[in-house]
Amino acid sequence: MKFYLETYGCQMNIYDSEIICSILLKSGFIKTSNLKKADIILLNTCSIREKPEKKIFNRLIKIKCFKKKKKQLKLGIVGCLATHYKKKLFEKLKFLDLIVGPDSYKQLPEIINKLKNNNKEIDVSLANKERYTNIIPKGVRNGISAFLSIMRGCDNMCTFCIVPYTRGREKSRNPNSILKECKLLYKKGYKEIILLGQNVDAYFWKKMKFFQLLELIAKTVPLMRIRFLTSYPSNITTNLLKVVKKYTNICKHFHLPLQSGSTRILSLMRRKYTVEEFLLIIKRIKTIIPDCSISSDIMTGFCTETQADHRETIRIMNLIKFNFSFMFKYSSRQGTYAYRKLKDNVPNSLKISRLNEIIRLQKSHSFYRLKQNIGTIQEVLIEGISKQDEKYYYGRNYKNDLIVFTKNKSKIGSYKKVKILKSTFTTLIGEILP
Ligand code: 5AD
Ligand code: SF4
Repeated sequence: MKFYLETYGCQMNIYDSEIICSILLKSGFIKTSNLKKADIILLNTCSIREKPEKKIFNRLIKIKCFKKKKKQLKLGIVGCLATHYKKKLFEKLKFLDLIVGPDSYKQLPEIINKLKNNNKEIDVSLANKERYTNIIPKGVRNGISAFLSIMRGCDNMCTFCIVPYTRGREKSRNPNSILKECKLLYKKGYKEIILLGQNVDAYFWKKMKFFQLLELIAKTVPLMRIRFLTSYPSNITTNLLKVVKKYTNICKHFHLPLQSGSTRILSLMRRKYTVEEFLLIIKRIKTIIPDCSISSDIMTGFCTETQADHRETIRIMNLIKFNFSFMFKYSSRQGTYAYRKLKDNVPNSLKISRLNEIIRLQKSHSFYRLKQNIGTIQEVLIEGISKQDEKYYYGRNYKNDLIVFTKNKSKIGSYKKVKILKSTFTTLIGEILP
């Protein structure tokens, strides 16, 4: 049986798709990248905001046509949409055959086999113990950089966020299995590992904390670059900063979602820091690791956000000048505390105009940060050939800046020195040094 898998959403979903591939391949399924040849189509989905959800629903309508042409074709939704809507998806999408949540992928082969009787199948349980410890992810990678999930789920219960409901409680993975996966990646020739978790810095296994795990990884695969995301701001400890500083193979980049620059809004979001505390965290990071980059997630139009709250976000962004940010307008998610108890009362047009304002501002800050690299020589991991111009390579430095530079005979996957000549709003342009 041939399966076709399409992935939406965050890096965690990309990693999960690799887990799904591994499980299905091991059970004798064959992967196809041609939708028309598939016997089963799986969409690994995201429900964090309304926009990605709409995109997935539109895609499903298109895929429905294939089912009309090929009667035995099965269609499944896996991932966060599955645990968000559960069996309601069958009511909404009559042509759907399968709904499987993020903790039930090991059951996928069995569930798919049951579809042969034309039953509809669903498994959206969130198993407290499922960590996919012994499954070696497969299939979606570029051969240079690999994601590695060190924990699943989230316990923070930010009032706007659906993740604790779709992915369940926080569960860290056994460090031995993490180290085994790191060594395997190294053996296979990977050059970079990106450690993933909704809050990586909340990692906890028996007595081991995140900074200890990170140090172990850095020592175990000293020739590999290590990145990690996402950090919950108030979990950044001095111990963690010391480890990041000490090991040259750990990237000097922190992804720290601010969400809002107003302490009143942060408290409504049930974030565990005030704006002043966030600023102190940034100060502590920059004192210990001056030449690091800090990126963020910022949201506009959360419940009751006033113009004054929005101005506070602008003020804080101007103070910090993040290297880059992912910015969103708030969308109410059914089931969350904000959906049940708070008023989603900022008009959509205002959410959008505030969003556009912070996007413009962030663009100027990104440019400001990138420009500081002009004239410097950066060590870059070559990740591939530029899609815009095949005379150029692209790669990243240890701060996670994207760099496009002249191509020579250097191998993809090698580290090279690149002189930075100029900058756009998003990318550094340079020339490779001999
Ligand atoms: N609406 C808009 N953005 C959201 N995020 C999470 N939930 C929502 C929501 N309901 C954003 C947050 C988070 C990022 C992954 O997605 O900024 O950090
Ligand atoms: Fe969602 Fe908050 Fe957990 Fe991030 S920390 S996944 S925003 S609940």
